[in-house]
Amino acid sequence: MSSLAALKEILNKVARLNQAAAVLDWDQQCYMPPGGAEARAEQSAVLGRLHHDLFTSDEVGTLLEKSRAELNGAGLDSDDVALIRVTQREFDRETKVPGDLVAEFARTTSLAHETWVKARKANDFESFRPTLEKVVDLCRQVAEHRGYEDNIYDALLDEFEPGMKSAEVDKIFGDLRPLLVEMVKHIQESAVKADGSIMTRSYPIDKQREICNDVVKLVGYEFENGRQDEAAHPFCTNFSNKDVRITTRFDEHYLPGSIFASLHEAGHAMYEQGSPDKYEGTPLAGGVSLGFHESQSRMWENQVGRSKEFINFYFPRLQKTFPDALGNVSAEEFRRAANRVEPSLIRVEADEVTYGLHIMLRYELEKMMLEGKVDFKQLPDLWNSKMEEYLGVTPDTDANGVLQDVHWSSGILGYFPTYQLGNLISAQLWEKMNQDMSDIPEQMSRGEFGAILQWLRENVHQYGSKYMPKDLIVKATGKPLSSDAYNAYIESKYSEIYSL
Ligand code: CO
Repeated sequence: MSSLAALKEILNKVARLNQAAAVLDWDQQCYMPPGGAEARAEQSAVLGRLHHDLFTSDEVGTLLEKSRAELNGAGLDSDDVALIRVTQREFDRETKVPGDLVAEFARTTSLAHETWVKARKANDFESFRPTLEKVVDLCRQVAEHRGYEDNIYDALLDEFEPGMKSAEVDKIFGDLRPLLVEMVKHIQESAVKADGSIMTRSYPIDKQREICNDVVKLVGYEFENGRQDEAAHPFCTNFSNKDVRITTRFDEHYLPGSIFASLHEAGHAMYEQGSPDKYEGTPLAGGVSLGFHESQSRMWENQVGRSKEFINFYFPRLQKTFPDALGNVSAEEFRRAANRVEPSLIRVEADEVTYGLHIMLRYELEKMMLEGKVDFKQLPDLWNSKMEEYLGVTPDTDANGVLQDVHWSSGILGYFPTYQLGNLISAQLWEKMNQDMSDIPEQMSRGEFGAILQWLRENVHQYGSKYMPKDLIVKATGKPLSSDAYNAYIESKYSEIYSL
């Protein structure tokens, strides 16, 4: 057997272990009774260890070397060359950091999570500060072991958005920030106001469930290869490209919380359902980066789900399902409510226009922390002054400010930018798709979404993780990622809605 074939055999086992662990995690979040927690933690730990030992073995290292030699001469476009590149990246990431540091990281962040929960509840940043300093220091050590060229931040960002550098993020966000800040101001000064209370009327949960299943099926999520359940935090997970599951959540008095979460997760899921069979059981299966993944979820949630055309088409069905809440509401009023812009303190409640500003603030602070450019005692003030500068609102408490997100306590630094990169990628793909097909708005008005999905399948999904994100965006849209398309999208959409 060739070295490449032997390597693929091991990688297939590694992939199956990952999928099995994902089933356990899905069950834990959707169905497991509280009593199952202890045994589940051990089950997951055993699978995690098996995965790590199998994947980081000397044998895999040797097979990677030999496979590369075997492939010498194969074109850059070869699947096998891509497989070796992607596998080597993951192998390096898992082997470069010493076991002791990995263990300390796991221990510290698991305790840090508890400390953060308490600190947030007590609105007491000082009680969390020493822990945060420790976590950031460990992240710094991990980054040093992984290595980087220009900025320490790059070593962490690379895990979530392969190949992306903070210098590029600085440029892209720097271009976009003043435009968003200005847009928020104009919207606030506009005489047009959206009536958000439409969304908080009574929407019976069993009816919401019906709608959430209906709407994801309508846009192309395949129930033969998936299912939708309920979880505290909506997510998408998959155990192969033929079993891609989504979750949503229900609040009787907040309709967008379920419908748009379902569309969002269906966007993630259709990306995974579109991953080609030939990549199953290899590191090339599925979405290439968090940014690209988020571009898919955001597109179905925002460019499709919150569009005039989609809402005009779908609103009669909503009205029929919720006659008490929506009987006297027009599709146009519903659309305005679904696209209402309102600067707020909390990221996860933010609208399309202000969301990016929440992300930029976090990105800037993370980078300063990693670079050692901030006195942690100043962090709450720094947070608050940036909120004031970008969004015109100042947190009333640290719980609603610097303490609001779970990420830092979990040791996840370098992740936040991918949310906004996803928005930018979605706009750039959408722009190109609309150039390729001039009648997308008309298709959506008729409730037809097949051509949109087909375009994404052909230009993004079919490649799995074969290309680096920066190459894939050029392949799909003809140009490198920038904030131009997103800026144009926000400008034209919200100028129209708010008569700017
Ligand atoms: Co998402």
